[in-house]
Amino acid sequence: MHSKKGSYGYSPYRSKVQVRWLALVVFFLASLFLLLSAKVTFWILPRPKPFPTTQTSCPALPPHPSIVSPPSGRFSWRNVTQRHAVELFANLPAIGKTRLPKVQFDSEGGEAPLYHELMRKRRQAAVKTTMERSWKAYKDHAWKQDELLPISGTSKTTFGGWGATLVDSLDTLWIMGLKDEFNEAVRAVTQIDFAPGAGELNIFETTIRYLGGLLAAYDLTDCKDSRLLEKAMELGDMIYMSFDTPNRMPITRWSAKKAAAGEEQSAAAQGIIAEFASFSLEFIRLSQLTGDMRYYDAVTRVTAVLAEQQGSTKVPGLWPVGVNVQKPDLTRDNLFSLGTMADSAYEYLGKTYQLLHRSGSTASQYADMYTSAMEAVMTHLLFRPKTPDNADILMPAAGRVNNRGIFSLDHTAQHLVCFAGGMFALGSRLLGNASHLDYGRKITEACIWSYTHAPNGIMPEMFRMTPCPSHDSCDFDELTRETHQFPGFKRVIDARYMLRPEAIESVFYMYRITGERRYQDVAWSMFETIEKRTRTGIANAAIRDVTLKVESKETGELRRGVGARSEESELELEDSMESFWMAETLKYFYLIFSEPSLLSLDEWVFNTEAHPFRLRT
Ligand SMILES: *[C@@H]1O[C@H](CO)[C@@H](O)[C@H](O)[C@H]1NC(C)=O
Ligand SMILES: *[C@@H]1O[C@H](CO)[C@@H](O)[C@H](O)[C@H]1NC(C)=O
Repeated sequence: MHSKKGSYGYSPYRSKVQVRWLALVVFFLASLFLLLSAKVTFWILPRPKPFPTTQTSCPALPPHPSIVSPPSGRFSWRNVTQRHAVELFANLPAIGKTRLPKVQFDSEGGEAPLYHELMRKRRQAAVKTTMERSWKAYKDHAWKQDELLPISGTSKTTFGGWGATLVDSLDTLWIMGLKDEFNEAVRAVTQIDFAPGAGELNIFETTIRYLGGLLAAYDLTDCKDSRLLEKAMELGDMIYMSFDTPNRMPITRWSAKKAAAGEEQSAAAQGIIAEFASFSLEFIRLSQLTGDMRYYDAVTRVTAVLAEQQGSTKVPGLWPVGVNVQKPDLTRDNLFSLGTMADSAYEYLGKTYQLLHRSGSTASQYADMYTSAMEAVMTHLLFRPKTPDNADILMPAAGRVNNRGIFSLDHTAQHLVCFAGGMFALGSRLLGNASHLDYGRKITEACIWSYTHAPNGIMPEMFRMTPCPSHDSCDFDELTRETHQFPGFKRVIDARYMLRPEAIESVFYMYRITGERRYQDVAWSMFETIEKRTRTGIANAAIRDVTLKVESKETGELRRGVGARSEESELELEDSMESFWMAETLKYFYLIFSEPSLLSLDEWVFNTEAHPFRLRT
């Protein structure tokens, strides 16, 4: 460094040594300034906290001794005495040398053509724009509330009032690189106090949305932002309290107030299988991250019941929708389904096997249960619907066993059941059975078909179809056509679209597993339609009736004022935006247009609310 004499005010009489020192100090200060300002813009994590003291990345093995969240001013569920405390906890199995089977297609080889790459990025950017818009609306109109009402610009409490949308959206913000938004959201999350509130809490929803959201966000920060784990532990302590029953079966609809006051509550005599059997991923991840085995232990007790009774239900291999958790007895009810109230109980079987890294007897229990369940699903719950184009597709449905023990299927399709395509596809890789991939494909195609052929390009929530006599090809005759409301759709029972993710979820799985680019095109046309038809002034809203075709502008004018309509489609909207819109729907749309390495299915497993948990690789 040399300077013209005098231009920096140096006296020509100063010694060279002095100048060097000054330069050094200036250089040091400048570097410090740069470093600090860089920290502000690039460093997305907060100042490190002393907890957990040694953790710099996600533990390969559970920490020992287990991590306990530090005392805070908030309500501590850990301090509430359990009436039926467990004495000895089951331990997570050690992870052996076994590798997990490869799930994703090999994306190393074929370079995508340039035009395709450009298109992919443009599509991805469009999804991100929609996310930013919805998030801004949430921040402006419903900050820290459970749900935004996207038409009136107000909010409502649906899941305990701790900010369901806030917690549910964390990982989507991270994945999309919305770091300022993420940091702001995490700061708000640290304020949550899971103190006992009035009313009945749905433990299932609390687990998949809040606990899943916190764990995934923590995993995404490479286990560095301990505030998120602290919160997960505070909430985990609360949820664990709902297992405080004589036989340690969970109380799925639970009063926190009563529990805090030490009042006895009993598990449901008329419970629902999905709520009983869908917390294995969240609880196991929590045990893996903290070394606290209470959660894993709670899972094993439920797993044992599922495994023991799977063969003695009215349709062996499947569990009925209705279960008596109190006893526990899963063999009485006669309704069987892959759809609503059952879905994630099946979805979690293969995924738990994966999260346990195939290790230990619990993992093999899950693999066995998955195999038997899918065998029964293929035999009893799938049907081929009659469509005008004789599409080779399979739709899952629900059915009942009558007094004489005869099983009959009700050929009703549900948007929610579309997740099953992804489940079969993932399972085919995890358990190495290629024929399951065909099932995954055909189920996914059934949902794609329903989108493409529905009057406005969006699959309704629920509708009847006409079954083919077998899975082989069949005729769409005049008689069938006459009985159908729309060709292929015999009768639409529930015409809403609630911003649901399950169809794009399966399309995403099919893409990541097969690498077929057609699925990206399918996804794009779904996204364009959904965005256009659900867009409100500030965000996106559920559609009241996706079958309503408004033909001309005049009709639109006449009906204006009846309810809020989307800007483009004139379809009537509902003032509702469930937290899964940003947690799941937009996340899957974004990920299908991402590099396949972003949240690779070989490194992450998604819970039923699309929250990714890190797999041991
Ligand atoms: C929980 O119990 C511990 C030990 O008894 C006590 O130090 C702590 O203050 C309690 N925390 C809360 C939030 O009540
Ligand atoms: C694969 O799945 C099919 C259909 O369930 C089954 O018939 C077959 O035995 C399975 N194959 C293996 C190797 O498990």
